[in-house]
Amino acid sequence: MSEPQRKILVSAALPYANGPIHIGHLVEYIQTDIWVRFQRLIGHHCIYVCASDAHGTAIMLRADSENIDPEVLVANVSESQQRDFADFLVNFDVFHSTHSTENRELVEAIFSRLDEQGFIARRTITQAYDPEQHMFLPDRYVTGTCPSCKTPDQYGDNCDNCSATYDPLDLIDPISSVSGAPPIAKESEHLFFTLPAFENALKKLLLKNADKNPLYTKLQEWFKEGLKDWDISRDAPYFGFRIPGTKDKYFYVWMDAPIGYMAAFLKYCREHDLDFDEYWKPGSDAFVYHFIGKDIIYFHSLFWPAVLMGSGYRTPSQIFAHGHLTLNKRKMSKSKGELINARTYLNHLDPEALRYYFFAKLGPGIDDLDFSPDDFVARVNADLVNKFVNIASRCAGFITRNFDGRLAGALHDRELFDEFGAAGAEIATAYEERRFAEAARTIMELADRANQYIDSHKPWKLIKDSSQQTEAHLVCSQGLNLFRTLLVYLKPVLPALAEQAEQFLNCKITDWSDCTTALLDHQINPYKPLKSRIDVKQVNAMLDEERAAAVPADGLKANAGDGNCITIDEFKKIDLRVALITKAEAVDGADKLLRLTLDTGDQTRTVFAGIKSSYAPADLTGKLTVMVANLEPRKMRFGVSEGMVLAASDGAGVFILSPDTGATPGLRVT
Ligand code: 2FM
Ligand code: ZN
Repeated sequence: MSEPQRKILVSAALPYANGPIHIGHLVEYIQTDIWVRFQRLIGHHCIYVCASDAHGTAIMLRADSENIDPEVLVANVSESQQRDFADFLVNFDVFHSTHSTENRELVEAIFSRLDEQGFIARRTITQAYDPEQHMFLPDRYVTGTCPSCKTPDQYGDNCDNCSATYDPLDLIDPISSVSGAPPIAKESEHLFFTLPAFENALKKLLLKNADKNPLYTKLQEWFKEGLKDWDISRDAPYFGFRIPGTKDKYFYVWMDAPIGYMAAFLKYCREHDLDFDEYWKPGSDAFVYHFIGKDIIYFHSLFWPAVLMGSGYRTPSQIFAHGHLTLNKRKMSKSKGELINARTYLNHLDPEALRYYFFAKLGPGIDDLDFSPDDFVARVNADLVNKFVNIASRCAGFITRNFDGRLAGALHDRELFDEFGAAGAEIATAYEERRFAEAARTIMELADRANQYIDSHKPWKLIKDSSQQTEAHLVCSQGLNLFRTLLVYLKPVLPALAEQAEQFLNCKITDWSDCTTALLDHQINPYKPLKSRIDVKQVNAMLDEERAAAVPADGLKANAGDGNCITIDEFKKIDLRVALITKAEAVDGADKLLRLTLDTGDQTRTVFAGIKSSYAPADLTGKLTVMVANLEPRKMRFGVSEGMVLAASDGAGVFILSPDTGATPGLRVT
């Protein structure tokens, strides 16, 4: 590394602890993980922090509905999210929680400094209040008819149809989505952070970075609109930290969330004997970068630096925002099953395939990126399997079989090898600037050249000619050295593959500069396949699993799958019926599904069930089973599924449930 070692602190946005993560979230965690791994490989000291975003109304209400303490909900969700992150090889140095002693300590200290400096104002405001639940309602918890265009079922902050913005109490016939009652207007004193006091300081900060800051235009617009005081308090009931000096006011979740970055780092510092202030004092020589989605730029570029300035801390070196992930160019939707949960992906596909796919698509800007099954399969197979891994698999066998697993003592084409190494500088700059797609392109161009080199020298022919053995040895050794240089470049993206390949090459990659050193007269281990092709069938099976599990947002959202309990009332909402299978047939184009015709006593239903691996259609006809009769019909590729048949599964087999002898179609299961 030519430049001096930098101290870098990196965060990814803190995920809300109220549900599982999906592949849209993973764009950011994977992007950040790749960047952090790159920084380390090039020799910098880099710490990657994250935490659960634990507070707020949504988490409080969800915990209520599950009859558990919010702390328990947060702990459960955090555990399952962390499992998902680890399985996608996202390697945080610390994953903490905003509901932690470290965060409380920092939030209270920051608030008290802001208050002392006169940056906290107090005034009384009027808000929508649920008279039945005795709580103030966040804008999103009030729905009604848009006062401008009269479209029904709009949220309390803005209209999806005409984009008008308004106060929830301006809606026509407003309804609280917590109790269903019409909200009333109620006054309460709130605490405000005086953001406009930081206008000049913020402008100076942003102008300083203007040339490097792709968010500059957006920020200028916000300045033009004018900064406003920011309400940082919420009335009880609220899950959060109580504001010191008040009886029942709590810090708004967005006040303590970014402080959670510092809290996670503080925990890390205490456990690793690192100096927190060295990173966070004004004028610190450390670098602090926040990776975020484009929807939360305002919080991170305006509120957050102002809060830090007002409380005597340094400001972030830069905010890196990215676009959102679409699925087949459409916004992902949970209720339609048009979303891929991290766990569902892992049930069917290789995590490194997604890591590479995002790498190959990501740039430094905030453009959205699209996941389309065909493109995903084609890109991963073409680049990783056909180009990259192919180099190793074409050369390795000859070295093992014909040369006792020992690489030649010299390079066959030193110039070509040096060219591969020289590309390291350009690739490193692309990584550094988050131009990942460009880095991927350059790496794959090199992979093409390595394959052309092998094609032109044809080691499979040379090896058959006893006078060409030395040449064959040199060509295959060169091929493996070119592969190793590319492995250095891809190690931040493919850490698991890199580990396997290091074992095969019998040599660890410890530094980016390894791209320029060749393995000569070096013993390697027998080759085992490093990556296999993925099939579009795997992607379709994943999408089918997601669709089959989809429930409407406001339907009977049992929390199954998250590992949490449901209440007896929630359970009672499920209409379970005995049903007779009158017909069972295979479905064209669906490997796992059977189309079942069910007699439920008074109706005939069609249900698609993923049980083909365990049942021949003929075995099912005439059998009684149990179905969920009030599941909202789901449109699938093959037709509409009007319910769900209950089955047990251990991953190996599927076993449909049947009632005891004597039951008849239509009987309600209680
Ligand atoms: O938008 C979100 O998902 C928030 N939970 C992100 C918080 S990032 C930071 F400020 F903590
Ligand atoms: Zn409207």
